[in-house]
Amino acid sequence: MLLDVYKKYPIVPERAQGKFIYDKNGKRYLDLVSGISVTILGHRHPAVIRAIKKQLNKYLHISNLFHIKVQEEYARLLVEKTFKGAVFFSNSGAEANELAVKTARFFGADSNRYKFIAFENSFHGRTLATVCLTGQKKFKKGLSPLLEGFEFAELNNINSVKKLITSRTVAVFLELVQGEGGIYPADINFVGNLRKITKEKNILLILDEIQTGFGRCGKLFAFQKYGITPDIITLGKAAGGGLPLGVTILKKGLVKYLPKGSHGSTFGGNPISVVAGMETLKLLDEKMLERVNRLSEKFIQGLHQLWEKNKIIEDVRASGLMIGVEFEKEIAEKIVFEFLKRGIITNAVKPNILRFLPPYTITYSDIEKVLAIFSKILKHIK
Ligand SMILES: Cc1ncc(COP(=O)(O)O)c(C=O)c1O
Repeated sequence: MLLDVYKKYPIVPERAQGKFIYDKNGKRYLDLVSGISVTILGHRHPAVIRAIKKQLNKYLHISNLFHIKVQEEYARLLVEKTFKGAVFFSNSGAEANELAVKTARFFGADSNRYKFIAFENSFHGRTLATVCLTGQKKFKKGLSPLLEGFEFAELNNINSVKKLITSRTVAVFLELVQGEGGIYPADINFVGNLRKITKEKNILLILDEIQTGFGRCGKLFAFQKYGITPDIITLGKAAGGGLPLGVTILKKGLVKYLPKGSHGSTFGGNPISVVAGMETLKLLDEKMLERVNRLSEKFIQGLHQLWEKNKIIEDVRASGLMIGVEFEKEIAEKIVFEFLKRGIITNAVKPNILRFLPPYTITYSDIEKVLAIFSKILKHIK
């Protein structure tokens, strides 16, 4: 018996290919959630499958006691695409964030700085430290006593951050677009100011790009949209090309705080996940990013038109192909169900917020079809 912790779709997938998931009766569903932003180029992308098969013929697991060439290659590519630093591979987003928390504590140890400023409504994972970092009470219920030293500011309110900064503050932890919180993007000026203040005070700026990274927001990494460079970035979801992989990238100056033995993972950086992730990253060229931006524009434009016609829609928020529609009432789950009946997979990230995280391989005509169906559902729901 499985632990019953997930609210599940009432379908049993048999296989998935490209943008579709097929159930055992052969009914196909257009997947606009991509395994929660994991299969960003569709299911079983041929180049990714080829890379996996090639690695399968070499070895599955040999442990991090050995030099693993593909890890070194992927790390080089990630650094080239982000900033000068060092990469640690783990197995999940939460683990990537755990290392970011540990790094900040190592960094602040000598000066007795250990406090984090995170944000209300944020989400950073389900391990104990990442739950403490998460700015939503529902994830912390029943877990007291929590870890010490986590405080929460209001997103896009720089004064609320300033008020929390003390001589004990070691890091600010931020999602550039709050994903699980309901698609709330950070403002460009807010992020610019945050970078300025953290730099002045020698406070680390840690960006959780687990959901926003790998082209989701229209740039390879969302920080590149904001014209800043963080001190640490964490990645997951698409990082393993459909397989489990967490990535923590530390800027060069932080490497000395993690000497041999200070961190580790048996499975971290599994070679199969690494080659799948690396292949995916290689496919995210300028053309693909342009495509994300074009599809995003088309999708948002259509949603705005629906918004004008339907009072029940309260807001449309997006960054690239990370899209949220907020309703006046708690009808998001009902809408997910209605979409599902019509062969489309969407997600209710909050009772009143619908989320789309489509693969970058969808087309204009897919979007038009989805919008037409959405329009019908909205009429019906009234
Ligand atoms: C921004 C963000 N951080 C961290 C996580 C946790 O990642 P994982 O579920 O791989 O541990 C998620 C997952 O949804 C996320 O969206």
